[in-house]
Amino acid sequence: MKSSIRALAELVLKNIDVLEEDCARRGADIPSLQDPYKAGTEFTLDDPNVQNASTVIIAAAQQLIQTVQNPQVNLLMTAYSTTLAGAIRVATEFHLADILNEAGEAGLHVKEISSQCKADPVKIGQILRLLASSWIFKEVKPDVFANNRNSSIMVKGLPVKKLQISQYSKPEGATSALLGIIGDEMIKGSSFLYETLSDPKTAFSGESNEAALCRAFNTNLTYWDYCEQPDQQARRLRFGVAMQAKSKLEPIELTTKGFDWKGLKKDSLVVDVGGGIGTFSLALVKEHPHLRYVIQDRGLVIEDGIERTKVYFPEELETGRISFQEHNFFDAQPIKNADVYILKFICHDWSNKYSHIILKRLREAAGPNSRLVIVDKVIPYICPPSELNEEISVPGTWKPELPEPIVNMSGGIIYPHLSSVLMMLLHHGQERTVSNFSELLAGAGWKLVEVYQHDAFGQYSSQILAVPV
Ligand SMILES: C[S@@+](CC[C@H](N)C(=O)[O-])C[C@H]1O[C@@H](n2cnc3c(N)ncnc32)[C@H](O)[C@@H]1O
Repeated sequence: MKSSIRALAELVLKNIDVLEEDCARRGADIPSLQDPYKAGTEFTLDDPNVQNASTVIIAAAQQLIQTVQNPQVNLLMTAYSTTLAGAIRVATEFHLADILNEAGEAGLHVKEISSQCKADPVKIGQILRLLASSWIFKEVKPDVFANNRNSSIMVKGLPVKKLQISQYSKPEGATSALLGIIGDEMIKGSSFLYETLSDPKTAFSGESNEAALCRAFNTNLTYWDYCEQPDQQARRLRFGVAMQAKSKLEPIELTTKGFDWKGLKKDSLVVDVGGGIGTFSLALVKEHPHLRYVIQDRGLVIEDGIERTKVYFPEELETGRISFQEHNFFDAQPIKNADVYILKFICHDWSNKYSHIILKRLREAAGPNSRLVIVDKVIPYICPPSELNEEISVPGTWKPELPEPIVNMSGGIIYPHLSSVLMMLLHHGQERTVSNFSELLAGAGWKLVEVYQHDAFGQYSSQILAVPV
């Protein structure tokens, strides 16, 4: 009988055929990890077959590693990965990828790298070597480092001298901004998770200002209030830019397809509630310029959004096709009877208690024809698909399939579950299953009518369409 590890290896090989065919069709080479990233060298993940093949390869390869490797090493190496996040943050804050981008293919000696970022060469060498051992940067000669495919993603695209003054002024810095948050807020919050979950004062709390990160920052402010402190301006700006990186992780159809935006009448009003600096609406307006968009958020975020929109969408701002409005989504919604209310990456920030209030305020403002589009992860259970009958009864939800002998597709797609815990440690929020959404919406006077998914495993955000009841 074939062993499970052979079956996993064969599954990898079978799906590699699909990726090789994809490359052959496009006349492209298999991307090299050693070379800096060039746009268009990734597999074409907008083709569902290619996307599925790549997901299966990753899940099968991870399961193979987990099976072959000593379980103690599996566990310890996974736990140690927080240190990598810290090291990656050092790389982004010191602009190491940009320094090496300017140095070119030959790379740069660690002493010269360190003199540019005014840091200790021994310590920067330790950091770079740890990252290079994890396929981020490469050591081309002893103590000489250069960018590879993964590290080059951190290149922000401005001269290093300019970056040292203001690093988050360009959307190209979005991935670095997100990496900065992962190596900062996420690690700090993670290290206080246990204390927060075990302290009777916070163990069952749904209050945003009692989450693990608040404990880490020694504050009783919510993350959003904390970011608005005068000395936290860089943190607030970084968050706004990082939201664009999250959008980049997902194919553009997620923002422009799914819900029938095209079918909305000319000048229909779309209200992007908690729209941040406008990432989602700005992606929508490109594809659906016949609609009007109002982006609502907290005052300071709106100011940041207007500044950025003046640069990238001056005409839409001037004509009023896009406008910004300060609004607290716990207060009465000032725009009644909008055609569509959007909540993108909002519900996941809040516990059920607060998500209920946000949904209720929108329900009070909605007219009979208003639609609510929630954009969030719909997280899958990790149990066998045969147990999922109830979950897949909502129109549009995808039925997960696990090719033998994979027991857990999340090996390839850990992100939705990670995101759920991250939302917990930041705000006492959570990602939700279809049933969770259905219940939450029903409690606030909405009916979940359809889900637009792009995969069955929660890798990409879904759109959840609800109508007033
Ligand atoms: C995770 S971000 C999502 C931003 C945006 N929807 C996007 O996807 O890019 C959450 C947003 O909620 C905003 N927010 C937090 N509390 C708010 C409140 N009480 N009223 C309005 N917006 C709020 C934050 O400022 C932030 O921009």
